[in-house]
Amino acid sequence: TTPVIIDCDPGHDDALALLLALGSPGLDLLGVTTVAGNQTLEKTTRNAQRILALAGAGTIPVAAGAGRPLVGALTVAADIHGESGLDGPDLDGPVAEVAGVHAVELMRRLIRARDEPVTLIATGPLTNVALLLSLHPEVLPRIAEVVFMGGSTERGNTTPYGEFNIVTDPEAADIVLRSGLRTTMIGLNVTHQALATDEIIAEFRAMDTRVGSVCAELMTFFADAYRRNFGFGHPPVHDPVAVARVIDPAIVRTEKVAVAVELAGTYTRGATVADLHRRTGREPNADVAVGLDVESFWRLLMAAVRNVSTA
Ligand code: BDR
Ligand code: CA
Repeated sequence: TTPVIIDCDPGHDDALALLLALGSPGLDLLGVTTVAGNQTLEKTTRNAQRILALAGAGTIPVAAGAGRPLVGALTVAADIHGESGLDGPDLDGPVAEVAGVHAVELMRRLIRARDEPVTLIATGPLTNVALLLSLHPEVLPRIAEVVFMGGSTERGNTTPYGEFNIVTDPEAADIVLRSGLRTTMIGLNVTHQALATDEIIAEFRAMDTRVGSVCAELMTFFADAYRRNFGFGHPPVHDPVAVARVIDPAIVRTEKVAVAVELAGTYTRGATVADLHRRTGREPNADVAVGLDVESFWRLLMAAVRNVSTA
C-alpha cells in the first residue's frame, strides 16, 4: 500500500477525494491536513473531520494549517461550496478532536515516522505544502511525490487563465513547482472530463447507504452551484482525480512538462504556464495530466464509496 497524506480544503470534491482514499485498499491514509481555500480554515477543518466521521475513520489524525495564503488575503469560494464549505447534506454529529499541532508539523512527523517515502496529495491551495518544504527541507528526500489538483494547460475557472487553488496562493504553487520534488499537476483540462452527471448522482443514491446519500446530496448542491455560476449542471469532481492518479497511475495520462506559475501578470496572476510544445528550453519539472480514463475513474470512485459504506 502507498502511504499518503491528503492536504485539503473541503469542499464538495475534496470530500469525494477523501472518501476515495478511505475506500481504496491500495492507499494508507496517514493523516489529513487542512488549509483555507474553499472556505475559512475553521470550516474546512470541521468539514474534513465530518467526512472522516461519516466514513468511520475518526481515528485518522487531522491538523489545521494555514488560514490564509502566503501573500495577500483569502478569497473563499462560497458561491461554489456554500457558507459551510460543504453545503447540501446534513453532516451534524460528533467528530474527533483535531491534533494539537499545526498541519505542517503533523506532516513532518508522519513523514519522518515512515521508512518508505510518503506521497502528498494536495487538493487545496498549496500553502501548507510550501510551508513544509520551506521550513523543513530535510523531509524532501522522504517525499515520494506531490500530486496536486490545480492549474490547467488551458484556461481557468477563477480568472480567465487561473484555476482556484493556484490563484488562491500562487507563491505557494511556485515554491512547490520549483522545489525539485517529483510533482504531478492534475489540472482543469482533465478534471473537466470527470463530470457528476445525473446518472452518477443516481448511482450514489441507489447505493442506499448513508455515505451514498451524502455523496448524492453533495453532488446535487455542487451541480446547482455550477449551473448558477458557469451555466452547466454537470459539475467536474476535480480533487478525486488526484487521488485516483496515486491509486492507479494509468488512469491519468501525463507528459513531462516545464510548468511555471505566473506571479505577476496584469490579467494572469496564478496562471500555470505549461510548456507543452517545449518552446522555452526549460527543463520539465512536472508530470502534467493530459488525459483521463473517465470510465475507470468512476469505477474506482464508486467502488471506494461502496467500501466505505460497508466499513
Ligand atoms: C479546485 O478548487 C476548489 O473549489 C475545488 O475543491 C478544487 O480543489 C478546482 O478549481
Ligand atoms: Ca479542493
